[in-house]
Amino acid sequence: MLQYYMILSIESSCDDSSIAITQIETKKLLFHKKISQDKEHSNYGGVVPELAARLHAEALPKILEETKRYLPDLKAIAVTNEPGLSVTLVEGIMMAKALSITLNLPIITVNHLVGHIYSLFIQKEALFPQTILLVSGGHTQIIQANGYEQFKTIASTMDDSFGESFDKVAKMLGLGYPGGPIVEEYAKKGDEDRFGFTTPLYNSPLIAFSYSGLKNQVRLQIAKIENLNDQDRYDICATFQKTATAHLLHKLKKVFKQQNIKNFAIVGGASANLYLRAKIQKLCDEFGTTLHLAELKFCSDNAAMIGRYAIEAYKQQKFTALDEISSSPKSSLDN
Ligand code: KG4
Ligand code: ZN
Repeated sequence: MLQYYMILSIESSCDDSSIAITQIETKKLLFHKKISQDKEHSNYGGVVPELAARLHAEALPKILEETKRYLPDLKAIAVTNEPGLSVTLVEGIMMAKALSITLNLPIITVNHLVGHIYSLFIQKEALFPQTILLVSGGHTQIIQANGYEQFKTIASTMDDSFGESFDKVAKMLGLGYPGGPIVEEYAKKGDEDRFGFTTPLYNSPLIAFSYSGLKNQVRLQIAKIENLNDQDRYDICATFQKTATAHLLHKLKKVFKQQNIKNFAIVGGASANLYLRAKIQKLCDEFGTTLHLAELKFCSDNAAMIGRYAIEAYKQQKFTALDEISSSPKSSLDN
């Protein structure tokens, strides 16, 4: 009988505790579980790092229990080590180190942003070159991905990220956390033309993003309305989502005009936004570009994408010695 080997991957860079088991030869995802902390952070309107770390310390061992039967067939442990919240990254790293020592396995450290890129290839062959829009709670970037470890950042945000701006608008409106899905739902019932929010950096030739000004426009608009009712909230969400997306589209169009892009992808938690997906699909149609998307369940943080990248690193035998593993809240993709 053919013997198959596997990688166990761990993700704890923010508020999702997740572990996956991926078969190395077939790239098949054999096990994947994630415990999200949305409810716990909702009252605070954002992630509280120390609370997140404590919840990871509870959730990760629980998920690990369910992977017991795969442990004898593991060849490596993969773990997200950057970027993310230092105190939560450490939880995953500690578990990876303990497993590495107990099972005598090498460790593969994974950059979370690269993980999001590989969410496109879960149970699929990798496809390069691709131009990729990464929209998450921590990042808004356009990345040129040419192959394994060949990434170049074309544009990034100067302040807040796309997903973060949804979280902040939701917080201002008292709608809970994470804001993205709630604001998208509210926007469906709203009039996106009611308020005249201006598109950030519209007259700037820069290919860059900025969301803090738009957040302030929303703040001022909320302050102007006496006794905010639900329809006001719907309309604010709709106008905000329209402007936030128009900003992305405006800068993306410049990139599409400059380069002949055959394959384009959107990844990261906010790539689950269907309004954004539809607008980008239209842009791709206009330029004859194929749009690639990860399955909805793999858009937000998960260990399956970490495991998928780890297969490629394993093939290159790219391991990190235990005493050289470090975590970092920030990181660059460029090499
Ligand atoms: O990738 P992710 O799970 O975590 C980070 O790496 O940051 O992304 C989470 C972010 C949050 O800011 C969340 O509000 C946003 O993605 N998000 C959305 C949607 N779903 C999640 N933003 C806009 N529309 C959505 N439907
Ligand atoms: Zn993420």
